[in-house]
Order: sequence, then structure tokens, then C-alpha cells
Amino acid sequence: MGDASPLSDPDIVPNPYPVYAALSERDPVHWCEGLDGWALTRYADCASALKDPRFKAERMTEVLSAKFEGRTLAKDNIYHRFTSNVMMYTDAPRHTALRRSTQSAFTRIAHEHYSTVIEEVAADLVASIPAGTQYLDAVPELAAKLPVDAAVRAFGVPQEDLSFVTPRVDNLMTYWSGPQDQPVELDVLLDNLTDLHTYALELVQGKRGAVVADTVIARLAAAQGESPDVSLEQTIHQLVLLLIALFAPTTPGSTSSGMLAFATHPEQVDRYRADPRCADNAPNEMVRFNASNQFTWRLAAETVEIEGTKIEAGQNVALFLGAANRDPRMFDRPDVFDLDRPNSNKHLTFGVGPHSCLGRQIATLELKWFFAKLFERYSRISLAGEPVWNPNLEFRSLRSLPLRLS
Ligand code: HEM
Repeated sequence: MGDASPLSDPDIVPNPYPVYAALSERDPVHWCEGLDGWALTRYADCASALKDPRFKAERMTEVLSAKFEGRTLAKDNIYHRFTSNVMMYTDAPRHTALRRSTQSAFTRIAHEHYSTVIEEVAADLVASIPAGTQYLDAVPELAAKLPVDAAVRAFGVPQEDLSFVTPRVDNLMTYWSGPQDQPVELDVLLDNLTDLHTYALELVQGKRGAVVADTVIARLAAAQGESPDVSLEQTIHQLVLLLIALFAPTTPGSTSSGMLAFATHPEQVDRYRADPRCADNAPNEMVRFNASNQFTWRLAAETVEIEGTKIEAGQNVALFLGAANRDPRMFDRPDVFDLDRPNSNKHLTFGVGPHSCLGRQIATLELKWFFAKLFERYSRISLAGEPVWNPNLEFRSLRSLPLRLS
């Protein structure tokens, strides 16, 4: 322990993969002081840790003390009520009940409906590019708009509420990341969380007007009270979590890094257009090639030995999904963007096991329809300037992507 970790170098964000490859080869269970935890970079280690009950998702009290030393909050504070009752930060059996309580919004039939709506969203977005446009910044013009339009039309967030919801989610996203530096004050975060709770309660109770039928929110509202072991407050907690996930940088990050991959691999656009199997595989290969959530967290509940290294009870573990996706033990020629890859769908970008992403299918539908509509209208996209990455390795996303369309 002690030496500066290459993972703490902000310059690696545009291309962290050589650092991952070196760690995975020589130091697969690597102590990173900046993360105050162990970094796992091998596919097999990440996949098994995600399914291992000795690594707990419940860890937000520890995160609070790490980020705001000396600040304690009453047990009934919104922070503790939320984090101890939301699926992302709980373990079985509570996690199982909370996750199950949302299932009516994530059935096969519900996803078929979302697919139809998201296809329309993607078609409208691509059609909104003015005729004759040759250059655009694809982050603000396309990638940032896709999940917001889907949030309104597939999730049922009223359009007029976006300016209320999104700045609050942006603030909260600075917190959930882990024990790193915290740019937003705790009191502001608590106010934001309270605001989103009041808002979600009003949505479910129909106090903000009728929610569009068949959307995620309409389905959750209709199912409220059906799970005897889940209270109204817990339902509201899950909805707040979904709002946060919905407006998080993950979906725009995947859409923009997908465009970057195609812009720099024109032969893959040809494969996409020539072979429907390549088009079907595109969302998987895009998110394998660049995961927008590069790592996720667990807390060791007991001492666990991995690759000969002892992880002590109470230590943080960062599972580097982005590194696992480039592990040559799992993926042949991992640094090649290749739509013909037979096992792209084995990526860990959405996690695996009990906490695997609840929005995986929706996010995949957004990518599927967006690229289908984009390549229906344009036969080539290429770089028209330097891409700029946000300075955040954990939620790795582009800030700017100048593209030429032809
Ligand atoms: C490309 C976009 C997305 C990526 C890369 C992503 C990634 C992830 C990852 C890695 C996890 C697992 C975390 C862990 O095991 O620690 C997760 C969980 C989750 N995601 Fe996503 N996500 C995306 C989009 C969404 C969307 C659009 C929603 C909203 C419906 C969503 C809702 C959730 C929820 C509720 C969980 C927690 C599940 C649980 O703990 O049981 N995600 N996501």
C-alpha cells in the first residue's frame, strides 16, 4: 500500500486501457489510495465478486463518514432512510423484496411497449437534425437528448418537470460515486434528495397531473401497495433511484462513446449496414468497448482472498467493469471494436448477479434504435475535431464530440 496508483492519474481518462492491461497482468488486486480501496481488473474476479455475498452493496453509512468526516445524521434522516431502503445499496433479503416490487414496470410486455416508444423517440431525434447539417457536436445535440426524450415518453416524467429534476440529479451524481472528493455540500444534497422524494410522492399520488399510460411511472404507481413487504415510502425510494439512474451520465456516455467508436472505425459502419447480425450486436459491442460506468463498488463483509491478496473486512472494493471488458482472458483481441465478435454480450457494463442493471434493456433499446435511425439517414460519421472527455473515470463520458455527417 502507499505508492501513487496509476488509476488516480486524471490523464488516463481518455484512454485508461493500457493502465488496466498492465494492472490486470501484474497487480490484478491493486490497492488504490485515491479510491481508498482495492481495484479488481480481471474479468473472472469482477464477475465472481459481483455475485459473492461476502461483498456487500450496503455501504452508504461508511461512504458518508468517509466523505463528510465527523458529520453524523439521525437514523430517520432522509439519507439513511433512502440508502437503507433502495435496491442499489441493500443486500438480500431486503434487496430481493425491493427489486421485486418494481417488476411490473420491467416485464417483457412492458419492454415491448417501451421499444415502440423509444423507436419513435430515436426517429424524431435524428429527424430533428436540420437538413444540410454537415457538422455538429454530437454530445449536446444527440447523446444528451436521447435519454431525456426517453425519460419523458417511455418513463412518463412530465416534460415541464425536467428543469426541476435534472439539476438535483446532477448534484446527487457527484455523491454516489464513492469515497472520493465531494464537490457539493451535504446539506445541499440532503435538500435535493428531499425535493426528489416529495416530487416522486406527488407523481405517484397523481398530484402532478395524470401520468402518461403504460410508462414506467404509470406502471409503478398502479402496482403501489401490491407488495405486502414494501411500504409506500420504499416505493418512492425506488422511484427516486430510477430518476437518478435515468438522468445519470451512463446512457449519454454510452451513446456518445458508441458514436466515437463508429466515427473512428468506418469499416464497422459498413459491417453494421451489411449484416443485420452486426447491427443487432452493436449495442453490446459498443458498451463492451467503452463502459460508461467504468467501476462499481462493494464493501468486504469478511476477509476474502483473491489472486493471493487478502482483502480485509470493512475495506472498499472497486470492480473495474471497463477493465474486465478488455480482459484478453475473456475477449479475443479485446482492444478491437468488432461487431462480428461472438461474445460481445458477455461484457460486464451493466453488472451481473443480483444487482445487475434494472434499466439494461431500456438502455440497450435506446442504443439500438438511435444507431438504427442514425445509419438510416447517414452513411458515414467521422471526427471533425478532438473529442473531449469529462474528467471522471468512474462515470466515463464525453463532454464534446465534433462529428462530420455524410
Ligand atoms: C448505458 C446505461 C447504463 C449503464 C452503463 C448502467 C450500469 C449499471 C451498473 C453497472 C449497475 C450495477 C451496479 C452494481 O452492481 O453495483 C446498474 C444498476 C442499476 N441500474 Fe443501470 N445502467 C444504465 C442505465 C440505467 C437506466 C436507464 C436505468 C433506469 C431504469 C438504470 C437503473 C438501474 C438500477 C435501478 C440499478 C440497481 C439494480 C439493483 O441494485 O438491483 N440503469 N446499472
